[in-house]
Amino acid sequence: QSWALGVGQSFSGFPSCAIIAIPLCCLFLSLLPSYRDRKEWADLEPVPQDDGPNPVVKIAYSDKFTDVYDYFRALLKNDEKSERAFALTAEAIELNAANYTVWHYRRVLLQALGKDLREEMRYITAIIEDQPKNYQVWHHRRMVVEWLNDPSEELEFIAEILSQDAKNYHAWQHRQWVIQEYKLWDHELEYVEQLLEDDVRNNSAWNQRHYVISHTTGYSDPEILAREVQYSLKQIRKAPHNESVWNYLKGILQDRGLSSHPGLLEQILELKETHCSPYLLGFLVDSYEDSLENSSVDQEEVLSKALELCELLALEKDTIRREYWSYVGRSLQAKYSPSSTSSAPGTDRASAPGSVYQDTTCSS
Ligand SMILES: *[C@@H]1O[C@H](CO)[C@@H](O)[C@H](O)[C@H]1NC(C)=O
Ligand SMILES: *[C@@H]1O[C@H](CO)[C@@H](O)[C@H](O)[C@H]1NC(C)=O
Ligand SMILES: *[C@@H]1O[C@H](CO)[C@@H](O)[C@H](O)[C@H]1NC(C)=O
Ligand SMILES: *[C@@H]1O[C@H](CO)[C@@H](O)[C@H](O)[C@H]1NC(C)=O
Repeated sequence: QSWALGVGQSFSGFPSCAIIAIPLCCLFLSLLPSYRDRKEWADLEPVPQDDGPNPVVKIAYSDKFTDVYDYFRALLKNDEKSERAFALTAEAIELNAANYTVWHYRRVLLQALGKDLREEMRYITAIIEDQPKNYQVWHHRRMVVEWLNDPSEELEFIAEILSQDAKNYHAWQHRQWVIQEYKLWDHELEYVEQLLEDDVRNNSAWNQRHYVISHTTGYSDPEILAREVQYSLKQIRKAPHNESVWNYLKGILQDRGLSSHPGLLEQILELKETHCSPYLLGFLVDSYEDSLENSSVDQEEVLSKALELCELLALEKDTIRREYWSYVGRSLQAKYSPSSTSSAPGTDRASAPGSVYQDTTCSS
């Protein structure tokens, strides 16, 4: 009798074929008898919504909404902490996920009943996927993450929500909270460090290191920059012939200039004696080129050092890129010593016979 009434109420006015189109789960829910008609709830006196004596607008609640919330208020009034109360909160949330009182009561019950919080994580995940723009649902998730003290699923979950709507304010708030609260970037850096311990040649790990630091401390703090430079130099000793770490080092120094980092040039020159590589020499060329822009250095001396290295690279250390180094040498000379092109042969090392800087090398 009672459930038949429920169906009649829910679908009145619909042609009977519409029922077929309604998803089975909804059909099932609406087939449940109302709380008013359930024997196991007969002990509770429903508490009707009090909209005040003269409500400005009489809100038209659906029968189901009124039924669920009348019994919700009854539970609340009795401060009942039971499984049936817990189950009812889910129904109340389904009807209105924006009601703080319901969520709060659910949390009280979660604790009082010692519910499985992993299960609650799955529940709140499904709810947020359905209603990602609701403050209460994110707040609830945050509470559960705190209770579990486990943020391990958060970044991935948030990324998924943001992939659907990159502007979701609540998702960004949650992300910021979880990163700050659990210092996730620190862990990320530790993780990257471990990857580099395992394989210092892992280019992706170096890229990840750059990504993590750029998104946390950044590199503008001289202390951080110095730490990263020293870390790189240490790693270079392990694998002098791999380019990854050199790319990283160049990457972090590029904005401030390769030559201006205090003491770096001296350390690289020292490394050159024991851990020389084409990358090291290439880095020195870049560094000298950078300092040629500095008016307070001895340009002639720096240029001559740079040209010497270009020649060494082209003829001996990096012959695969011979043409490239010849080109770099010619460009540096043209830019910083234009007069030398007209100087007498012999006095200008770079244009001496056999020098890689002669244009003829291009056609070879
Ligand atoms: C939430 O539900 C409770 C119980 O029905 C009600 O008293 C309260 O006003 C509701 N709050 C909001 C914000 O809708
Ligand atoms: C290299 O680092 C990436 C992360 O940046 C990691 O996923 C990958 O497993 C690492 N490769 C090796 C061989 O360690
Ligand atoms: C060294 O570094 C490069 C990045 O330039 C990387 O792609 C490559 O696989 C590494 N080589 C070896 C032998 O590990
Ligand atoms: C220019 O060179 C001087 C002397 O070597 C050095 O102290 C200064 O930091 C350099 N300036 C830049 C911008 O690299």
